[in-house]
Amino acid sequence: MRAICPGSFDPVTHGHLDIIERAAQMFGEVVVAVGRNSAKNYLFTPDERAAMIAEATAHLPNVRVEMLEGLLVDFCRDHDIDVIVKGLRFASDFEFELQMAQMNFALSGIETIMLPTAARWAHLSSTMIREVAKLGGDVSQFVTADVADRIRARTAPVEGGTA
Ligand code: PNS
Repeated sequence: MRAICPGSFDPVTHGHLDIIERAAQMFGEVVVAVGRNSAKNYLFTPDERAAMIAEATAHLPNVRVEMLEGLLVDFCRDHDIDVIVKGLRFASDFEFELQMAQMNFALSGIETIMLPTAARWAHLSSTMIREVAKLGGDVSQFVTADVADRIRARTAPVEGGTA
């Protein structure tokens, strides 16, 4: 079976990678789909986010990264995806994910499977990591070394700047 792990991944975290790795053990193929959510203020471009995921999942032969344009259910139909996999951290995730799962099922009949995030990573969110990094905090324990380097480069104060 072919599964999809869709998300914004701005940037990909150890929590995302835990879900992707577990999905890769359960399904023959996993597509990680990098979407844009118009409500979000991104730190990285879609191409940068995809490159970070590709680097972090290079050890998983049955995982590939694609860009997600338009509706998730249309992407799933066009790419012969059988199931959507989502990670759940806490109750508020479930409420939103349930609504999306029901909408996607109503639109296309595709099933969504929700995996509980590993307790170790339950507190992680890309939004919070961006906020901490922008304010000068060290986020290296939450992401891969490659992603931490890219965050540092993107959020470092400009040399000689006036701020
Ligand atoms: O990491 P995020 O921001 O929670 O990911 C959200 C994402 C990309 C999974 C979601 O916005 C999505 O599925 N976008 C595709 C557009 C779509 O199908 N929207 C309707 C979902 S019910």
